[in-house]
Amino acid sequence: MSESSDTSTPENDSGSDHQWHKILEVDELAEGRVTTVHIGHRSYAVTNHEGNFGVLDNRCPHQGGPLGEGSIENGHLRCPWHGYDYDPTTGQPPPPFDDAPVCFATEVRDDGLYAALPNDPVRVRTTSDVMVETMVNWGVEAVFGMVGHSNLGVADAMREAEDRGDLRFFGIRHEGAAAFAADAFGKLTGRPGACFAIAGPGSTNLLTGLYDAKVDGAPVLAISGQVPSKSRGRGAFQDLDLSATFNDVAGYSQTLFPDSDHAEITSLACKTAIVGRQVGHLIVPDDVQIIASDAPAGAPEGRVGSRRIAPPEDVLEVAAKRLTEAEQPAFIVGAGARDDMAEIIALAEHVGAPVATTFKAKGQISDTHPLGCGVLGRSGTPIASWFMNESDLLVVFGASFSNHTGISDYKPIIQVDDDPMALGRFHSVEIPVHGNAAVTADMLRAAVPDGACGDRRPEVADRWRIWREEKANRRNDDQTGGLSAAAVFEALGNAVDPDAAMCVDVGNNAYSFGRYFEVTNQTVLMSGYLGSIGFAFPASMGAWAAVGDHRQVVSVSGDGGFGQYAMELSTVSKYNMNLTHVLLDNQELGKISKEQRSADVDVWQTSLHNPDFAAMAELFGVDAHRVDEPQQLSSALRSALDHQGPSLVTIRSDVALL
Ligand code: FES
Repeated sequence: MSESSDTSTPENDSGSDHQWHKILEVDELAEGRVTTVHIGHRSYAVTNHEGNFGVLDNRCPHQGGPLGEGSIENGHLRCPWHGYDYDPTTGQPPPPFDDAPVCFATEVRDDGLYAALPNDPVRVRTTSDVMVETMVNWGVEAVFGMVGHSNLGVADAMREAEDRGDLRFFGIRHEGAAAFAADAFGKLTGRPGACFAIAGPGSTNLLTGLYDAKVDGAPVLAISGQVPSKSRGRGAFQDLDLSATFNDVAGYSQTLFPDSDHAEITSLACKTAIVGRQVGHLIVPDDVQIIASDAPAGAPEGRVGSRRIAPPEDVLEVAAKRLTEAEQPAFIVGAGARDDMAEIIALAEHVGAPVATTFKAKGQISDTHPLGCGVLGRSGTPIASWFMNESDLLVVFGASFSNHTGISDYKPIIQVDDDPMALGRFHSVEIPVHGNAAVTADMLRAAVPDGACGDRRPEVADRWRIWREEKANRRNDDQTGGLSAAAVFEALGNAVDPDAAMCVDVGNNAYSFGRYFEVTNQTVLMSGYLGSIGFAFPASMGAWAAVGDHRQVVSVSGDGGFGQYAMELSTVSKYNMNLTHVLLDNQELGKISKEQRSADVDVWQTSLHNPDFAAMAELFGVDAHRVDEPQQLSSALRSALDHQGPSLVTIRSDVALL
């Protein structure tokens, strides 16, 4: 017997807390059978035993087993979980037991079986509502996660918030994708992205994306359901010590207890994410989530100071003198200066200095700007490395000096950062300046003479001319074995909106994107220090949640990265996310093959056995395009980008044409 739901109008028994509901047609439940009926928010086990009907609370008094999924054996309704027996019509257990499910009055009428059932309980505000209202006040507007066994109380509070228009919830297919989506939301907006999981495996699945947020300083709030307090620490089902598990990844991880200050703890988790640029993590046991509470929600007002701190005057004076005396300074900007570019570019124009970026900061100055030199380092252009090598002073804003960027430590360096720990992180620098990049740039502009370092614009233009000639040569390489990265990223650059949000993965596709794709005003997101394969596609979901109604969202990956979260095709289709994923499919972990070759070892276990990803995407209802020949590329990209909804462009790529 299948389950059924009541759609009949209840008879209101005036003044009563019960109402008569039609449960089933009289002949709908055969003799000796049991079924489940849902009325309002409650479920009931309905039995037919020896011509008599019974309607019982569906929850077994032992551990809540679903009695409607049980069976009638030897005259008893047997619970499917542990076999406790109850009378099918009265709910009474056989002696010596006395725990009985609640049993409701029934009537067989001409038109069906009726039962007098309790009214739906009035929803009361809970600790979960306090937490969710607090999150919303701190700027959480989108949550990615999976609703499950141990987080239903918080989920219900999120549902309420979504009904009020305060929050959007996106149910993903794997919590790893939820963490990357939240991470990307935080990286793009500076506001907290949020992810949500059950106890045990759901929460452990979050960890990689949360580590990415940690090492790249992205604001992320993570919420874990937890097993009930009385089961905690006893090795119960899905009972992990989540405090210990998240201790390393989170800047703040707290379990909420019944008497906790739920608003304050949630506020501190949000503040950790926003102010500390770390992961804030909350662990909420099942029983705590549903405790009634009328506590006010927390809020950020008066609890966050300005980041626009000025450097000390004496340090600024030394830095200004050094910059004035330099003949060929070069600027390098990192992702930490993402919000400070107007002031930095104004300073560069004032003194005439070329500006390169780290890979994470790609796009913070347009490649069309007369002083823009593109990316420096392993994913970079020869323009950027030329100007670094020619310089007699490097002025570095908000960069973390990774070895991938390779900022020359033998050069004299002025380093500006608002994080004192970032100054001289890997080696000493000549002038460490603790201050906000925008404020410092403005102060330097006021202190350094106009045109102090000459005009490098003609030299920048000449370097771009040389590089573009080289790129054209590479674009025209023989592509019979698959398209070249130079061709792909030139076509993408011509097709994509100038202000798109772009998520890139790791591997050859990312190196080539850094090198060949010419940015205008796009924002580029990546898994920087963690370098996690699989980042780009779930990250595009987070980017879409942040800006999707206003800006194009494009992600780029290889087939190795896309394969990690390909099932999220289901998610992007379900929510009709307006994003385009560009997939360079070379049937190989190409970067690893290259590393094996350069290490003089055999290329081993790096081939990939792929499906036709475009056909797969179509099965999910995603607009899909397959590009096998160069002449198909531009139209496929433009068609995908024009599509209002999720699109996938798979491109047959030549692993040798990087
Ligand atoms: Fe029904 Fe255990 S839950 S017997």
